Amino acid sequence: MADPVTRTLTVSSTSEAQTVALGRAVGTALSARDVVLLSGELGAGKTRFVEGMTRGIEADAETRSPTFVLVNEYVGRLMLAHCDLYRLSGPEEIGELGLDDYLARDAALAVEWPERARGEFPVEALELLFDFGEGPDDRVLIATAVGDTALRLLSALEKVASATQVIGGDR
Ligand SMILES: Nc1ncnc2c1ncn2[C@@H]1O[C@H](COP(=O)(O)OP(=O)(O)OP(=O)(O)O)[C@@H](O)[C@H]1O
Ligand SMILES: [Mg+2]
Repeated sequence: MADPVTRTLTVSSTSEAQTVALGRAVGTALSARDVVLLSGELGAGKTRFVEGMTRGIEADAETRSPTFVLVNEYVGRLMLAHCDLYRLSGPEEIGELGLDDYLARDAALAVEWPERARGEFPVEALELLFDFGEGPDDRVLIATAVGDTALRLLSALEKVASATQVIGGDR
């Protein structure tokens, strides 16, 4: 089978509000079983972005997963399961994420610190790498879409972003 189409975009954010707005754009475009993986150091802005995503799906409230630790559930026009794996102690805990259960229930997933469970996520995903910029409120976001559904999310991001450069890709 051919490799899924991949495209990368670099986006800058100069404020927390702008990061929330970027997340909101992705949330608005989100559909069932979409996977968004958010990497980057502590305080880089991953949770702010997910907060925007929850607004994009028009979620009213956050609920701790009744079954799984490390997961919060947001229900709007679809369910978004938000996992923060920072405290995942080892591969044996991966079952506690319940990722397959969420995807089977047509939820979308937003995962912080996905490198703690490398190889456990679908290949087709929107991967976001958050980095610090020059000023205290500057952030640089490198977004890579793998697969058609993630490309759709990337386009939504691109529309609201001051996209600084398109590094590569097939389209
Ligand atoms: N442009 C920006 N985008 C996002 N957050 C910003 C920005 N500028 C400043 N901030 C601040 O940076 C912090 C980002 O925190 P956030 O919880 O989103 O980080 P995180 O990447 O989720 O970290 P962690 O790995 O600890 O979960 C917040 O305090 C926010 O106010
Ligand atoms: Mg966070």
